[in-house]
Order: sequence, then C-alpha cells, then structure tokens
Amino acid sequence: MVVLVTGSSGQLGQALKSIAKQYIEVDFEFCNSTELDITDLEQCKIVFAKIKPKFCINAAAYTAVDKAESEPEKARLINVGGPINLAQVCKEMDVILLHISTDFIFDGISTKPYTEEDIPNPTGIYGKTKLDGEIVIHAILEKYFIIRTSWVYSQFGNNFMKTMLRLGRERDSLSVVNDQIGTPTNAVDLAEALVKIVHFCHAELVSASQFGIYNFSNEGQCSWYEFAKKILEINKMELDLQPIATSDYPTPAKRPRYSVLDKSKIKKVFGIKVKNWKESLKKL
Ligand SMILES: NC(=O)c1ccc[n+]([C@@H]2O[C@H](COP(=O)([O-])OP(=O)(O)OC[C@H]3O[C@@H](n4cnc5c(N)ncnc54)[C@H](OP(=O)(O)O)[C@@H]3O)[C@@H](O)[C@H]2O)c1
Repeated sequence: MVVLVTGSSGQLGQALKSIAKQYIEVDFEFCNSTELDITDLEQCKIVFAKIKPKFCINAAAYTAVDKAESEPEKARLINVGGPINLAQVCKEMDVILLHISTDFIFDGISTKPYTEEDIPNPTGIYGKTKLDGEIVIHAILEKYFIIRTSWVYSQFGNNFMKTMLRLGRERDSLSVVNDQIGTPTNAVDLAEALVKIVHFCHAELVSASQFGIYNFSNEGQCSWYEFAKKILEINKMELDLQPIATSDYPTPAKRPRYSVLDKSKIKKVFGIKVKNWKESLKKL
C-alpha cells in the first residue's frame, strides 16, 4: 500500500513521518516542496508515475493566513492550482486523494459546531483559496476525502503552541485573544486519523457515497487565551497572561469568531476515537 505525502516538511507532513514506522504495512513516500511542487503539473505526473501510489495525502498548502491578504495570487496558485493538478493526476492514475482543509472556510457566526453540510463563507483570502481548493477537487474527482481541521499544533514547524512557549521564555507578560472560540488539533492525532481512513479504504470498507468531506479536530472547545493558559500551565511557565478582545489585536485577515467542528461523521463512518484537546496537549 503506497501512500504519497506531499508537503512533507510541514507540520502535518512531519507528524505523518513521526508515526510512519508504526505502520509497516504502509509504504510512505514523503515528498517535500522541492521533490514535488504541487503547482507543477508535469512534475506531479512524473512523480506519481514513478512512485505509483494508491493514496495521496496532500499536506502541502499555503498556510500564512495574514500574509495571504497581501499575496493572494501565490495563495491561490498553491491552494487551488495545487489541488487541481493533484486531482487531475489522481483521476488519471486512479489514486485516492486525502486533502486537508480548514475551519477558516466558515465565517464564524454560528453558535453550534459546524457540520460538513453547513454553508462555508470564508472571511479572508486564505479561507477563500482553501474553499476553492475543495470545490475543484469535488469537480474533478469522485474518490477523494477532504478533511477539514482547525488550530493545528505540534512539536514540528511553526504553530501557536510553539509561539506561546517561546514568548513564555522571553516575556514576563502576554495578552491573548479570548473571543475567538475553536478547537486545537494535535497534528499527530490528525495524522493517525488520516492513516485510519487509508486503512479503511484499502480494506474496501468505503462505499462510493462515503467519499467526500469530513471534519477532524480534537474534542472540546476553548479560546486562544484558554489554549495559551493550558500550554503555559502544562509546561510550568509562570507569567502574567491577560485575555484581550480581537479588536485589541488587529490582524490583516479577519478570523472566524467561532469555528468548532462537529466530528460526528468521521467518528461514525471510520470509528475514529477523538481525544479531548487538553488530553492531547499533555502528550507533547
Ligand atoms: N496549521 C493550522 O493551524 C491549520 C489549521 C487548519 C487547516 N490546516 C491545513 O492543514 C494542512 C497542513 O498544514 P500545516 O500546518 O502542516 O502547514 P505547514 O506547516 O505550513 O506546511 C505546509 C507545507 O506545504 C509545503 N508547500 C508549500 N507550497 C508547496 C508547493 N507548491 N508544493 C509542495 N509543497 C508546498 C511547504 O513547503 P515549504 O516549507 O518548502 O514551503 C510546507 O512544508 C494544510 O492544508 C492547511 O491548510 C492547517
């Protein structure tokens, strides 16, 4: 069972690498952005023809949420052009695509967890390009999974947890927004969920109607302030942490006020057990 992973130097790519050895039955082929630039169709064709994957996990993306506001063409090229190329190659070579999307496709005006059926309405360029990436995959492919996730953190790459740990070492006080609610996702938990879907599919336990969109994050919800507080507490870092409003911390991209994802579908279809975010955070 050959699984090609794009964007392998990123957070999710490295999380997948960290668990790969546990799955001796899976031949993971990891490609970083130099080995496989998803915006280059010819390179995609050559790499897929060489590796001959049965599955492709697309962990490559443009993820700089604020920077996307000032370089929308680059964000679009990677988050829409990339998925078009991958979907075309997957279709030609009969490869099942697992693509990662985001809670930032929602506007955040909901007060209850978003299901896969809720109507997206992104508020920024990053969210718009990620949504368009979903739309092109749906238009080109039948055998695909789009996994929407949120607030991904890990020991790898750049993420909120690592920023808080760095600031915790550097500063005596810190202000973090307390009026944006979501759910942190441990990248390793996401990686394990993706591998579970791959196994399910490989065992031909997936019917045609079960391809499509799924939500995955950890369970529970919190604000960025509460997330920061827990990170500092677990790491025994003492500093003056202050809750602030989004209006006190302006950013180029507008973020959803509420973006908790409902995980009922992925739990029911694949039997995936989802850990609470506090429990998963303790593991790091
Ligand atoms: N991080 C979050 O909080 C979060 C939340 C919700 C959803 N997601 C989604 O989760 C997925 C994984 O995110 P992540 O946190 O692992 O992102 P990440 O750490 O920023 O990694 C993204 C990777 O994509 C690679 N990449 C960029 N352009 C590429 C191209 N043209 N061809 C091939 N690779 C390219 C980057 O390589 P270089 O470093 O070489 O440029 C990088 O290694 C993404 O789809 C993201 O939208 C993330």
